Amino acid sequence: MKAITVAIDGFSSCGKSTIAKQLAQQVGYTYIDTGAMYRAVALYSLSHEDYLDHLEDIPLTGLGDSIRTLEVGNRASVVATIPQVRRFLVDKQQEMGRQGGVVMDGRDIGTVVFPHAELKLFLTASPQVRAQRRYDELRAKGENPNFADVLADVNDRDYRDTHRQESPLRQADDAIVVDNSDMTREEQMEVILRLFRNCCNKQNQSADIN
Ligand code: DC
Repeated sequence: MKAITVAIDGFSSCGKSTIAKQLAQQVGYTYIDTGAMYRAVALYSLSHEDYLDHLEDIPLTGLGDSIRTLEVGNRASVVATIPQVRRFLVDKQQEMGRQGGVVMDGRDIGTVVFPHAELKLFLTASPQVRAQRRYDELRAKGENPNFADVLADVNDRDYRDTHRQESPLRQADDAIVVDNSDMTREEQMEVILRLFRNCCNKQNQSADIN
């Protein structure tokens, strides 16, 4: 069975990483969280003004929860507008996924990093639903956020991600949209697993014919 490449793009806080990780685990693929790479650059940039001269030196993995704060998330969507940062990280991502057998999630995976990925998913949910999930997450971490602020943050980030000049977030023409506003995690996983299996079967059928 040929290993395919799965590209998962979508807005922030719509559960991309959770579902991508779970899919990778279920099908035995490698999961690559590209948002974490932008967050790693963002974290470093907060204490190194000259970070653009040191991209090669920035640790991109093993940073744990230090990259999961609101501050780093907001900063990540700013550093992600810089062409030099994107080129650097896209190169790394293409190298990491070169062999296939990966589930990669981000904003530009199906459009820029792997435009020929066999399966492209575009995950979405309404801003209110995403803000509520983010709000619940922050509460669970012991923070006391204001819902209106969290919603404003979701909208700001959406705006920046979709309006930046370099590789803005957009749905690839051949991506399948999964709106999970009204789905449980289990329902969503079922839908995605079905899409994955259909895609693998199709790939193998065309490999048999050729
Ligand atoms: O998915 P996330 O919230 O961890 O991503 C953090 C920021 O990084 C987000 O605002 C957009 C940016 N990003 C990007 O521009 N391209 C990617 N492939 C992944 C993330």
